Amino acid sequence: MEIIRSVAELKAKLEEARKNGSVGLVPTMGALHAGHLSLIERARRDNDTVVVSVFVNPTQFNNPTDLATYPRTEEADAALLRKAGVDYAFIPSVEEIYPEPDTRVFDLGPVAEVMEGAMRPGHFNGVAQIVSKLFDFVRPTRAYFGEKDFQQIAVIRRMVELEGFDIEIVDCPIKREADGLAMSSRNVRLSEEERAIAPAIHRTLEGSLSWAMNHNVEETKRYVIDELNSFPHLKVEYYEIVDALSMQPIKDWNDTKSAVGCATVFCGDVRLIDNIKYPERK
Ligand code: PAF
Repeated sequence: MEIIRSVAELKAKLEEARKNGSVGLVPTMGALHAGHLSLIERARRDNDTVVVSVFVNPTQFNNPTDLATYPRTEEADAALLRKAGVDYAFIPSVEEIYPEPDTRVFDLGPVAEVMEGAMRPGHFNGVAQIVSKLFDFVRPTRAYFGEKDFQQIAVIRRMVELEGFDIEIVDCPIKREADGLAMSSRNVRLSEEERAIAPAIHRTLEGSLSWAMNHNVEETKRYVIDELNSFPHLKVEYYEIVDALSMQPIKDWNDTKSAVGCATVFCGDVRLIDNIKYPERK
């Protein structure tokens, strides 16, 4: 595996790689865990060359404390990537990616206006900035994203459409700890006590599947919010049930064939997200 830090070198290497077949890109912000490794395994299976980027992108953080406390574990990340059979690890500095401020504003539309878009102003524009830059540098055949960040995938698809990239976006299932907690780089910031409570998020979302059989959308949202808020350390920021493509909140189960419940919950001061797919109503 080669570690590349400059955009010029990355472009040159990838120019060569593309001549020899397909290229898979896995964009990450590092602090790698088994969730990332599952994306990399998939990219490895699908492509001749695999590139993983490790870059904590400042433009997608609307909270300076969140950016400052985001875990950075470059040495451990590089070791994991080497073991996973990655060809190129792109680990640039902030100056390399943003030699000057990126002032682009993407017309991301309704998919970016709700949930994370409403709670974290500018977040998705920052994601679109960095992912479009990475797509431009790497020009991958396919790019891999985890479904934990369910709304992010919809936003990236929209950016791909806006920019006219010919890149297949591959969404990969959420990877969970044995107790059900969705894997996240932020989990390391949970105290022992918070870590013990955090799996209640997935358990509650799962529990809502049977509740939803006999209750309407509003009642199901209420059930999840009340249940989660009843645990010590947990505080729901939002729970929305949305159409899986448009990300727009539904009012009735029959409004969509694929409803997804998206939760953002503070566990102490760590902001965790998770989601669950509700079966189609016949
Ligand atoms: O999901 C993430 O880790 C980030 O938002 C991404 C896609 C790597 C862009 O910085």
